[in-house]
Amino acid sequence: MENIINAQQLVFAYSGEKEAALKGVSVSVSKGEMVAVLGHNGSGKSTFAKHLNAILLPSGGVCYVGGINTADEDKLLDLRRTAGMVFQNPDNQIVATIVEEDVAFGLENLGIPPEEIRERVDSALKDVGMYKFRLHAPHQLSGGQKQRIAIAGIIAMRPQLIILDEPTAMLDPRGRAEVIETITRLNRELGMTVILITHYMDEAAACDRIIVMDDGRLLIDDTPKKVFSNVALLKRVGLDVPQATEIVYELKKCGIDLPDDIITDEECVEALASLLSKKGEVQA
Ligand SMILES: Nc1ncnc2c1ncn2[C@@H]1O[C@H](COP(=O)(O)OP(=O)(O)O)[C@@H](O)[C@H]1O
Ligand SMILES: [Mg+2]
Repeated sequence: MENIINAQQLVFAYSGEKEAALKGVSVSVSKGEMVAVLGHNGSGKSTFAKHLNAILLPSGGVCYVGGINTADEDKLLDLRRTAGMVFQNPDNQIVATIVEEDVAFGLENLGIPPEEIRERVDSALKDVGMYKFRLHAPHQLSGGQKQRIAIAGIIAMRPQLIILDEPTAMLDPRGRAEVIETITRLNRELGMTVILITHYMDEAAACDRIIVMDDGRLLIDDTPKKVFSNVALLKRVGLDVPQATEIVYELKKCGIDLPDDIITDEECVEALASLLSKKGEVQA
C-alpha cells in the first residue's frame, strides 16, 4: 500500500534549546491506517505532529506527506490541504459565531465556489453528526460538540490525513466518547488516515497501530496487542496500559495462568470467565 507519511531520520531542535526535541525519528504510515501516538509529556509527540503539515520544518532528515516534501515552500498550500490538524482546545479553533460559518471558514480561504462550500459544509457536518446544530452558536455547545465542529472544519477541506493532538484531553467522558466515535467512523467508513496523539490507553488500544515515543525517539511501533504486552517497558517510560491489561498483568504476577494479549474489557471478561469455568470443572 502507498505510504501517506514517510519520515526519515527527523531531527528537530527548538531555537535556543541545546537538546533536540526529535532525535532521528523514522516512521511510515500507509493510506487508511489509524495510528495512535503515545509517550509521556515532553517525549516529542506534538513536535513530530507539527512536522506533518509543516508548522515545523526538520533541521535534519526529511518528511514526505502525500508525496510532498514538507520543506517545499511552493507546495505549502497543497500540503495543508492534504494534512489537517486538530488541537486539544476546541475553543482556540473556533472562529465564527455560527456553526456552519465556522466550518466554511477554511474553505472560503481556499477560494472554493459558494455552491461547493455549501455542499462540503453540509456533508462534513453530517460526517461528524452535527448537521442539526448547523445554525447554533458554537459557544452554546458542549466541549465534545465543539471539538466535532473543529473536526468538521478540517474534513470539509477533504484532507487525506487528519492529525489529532490530544483532541479529547479537555473533554468529559461523554465528549471524549463522541469524538473518538467520530474519528473512528472517519477512518473506517471514509478511509481517512488518522494520527491520534493521546494519553488514553483505551483510545490507543482501538487503533490499528501504536507508536510509542520516548525522549525524542521512536521506542516501539507495533500493533496494540504487541505494544501492551510490554507492560514493564511501558511502565518504565511512564505510561499506563489499558485497565483490562493491568488486571491481567497483576493476576499473572500472582501465578494465575492468563493470556498475554488482553487489551479490551470484553477480552478480560472472557478470559476470566473461561478460567473460572475450568476451575469449576477441576473442583467438580
Ligand atoms: N516552543 C518550544 N520551545 C522550546 N522547547 C519546546 C517547545 N515546545 C516543546 N519544547 C520541548 O521539546 C520537547 C518535546 O516537546 P513536545 O513535542 O511538546 O512533547 P509532547 O507533545 O510529547 O508532550 C520537550 O522537551 C519540550 O519541553
Ligand atoms: Mg503534546
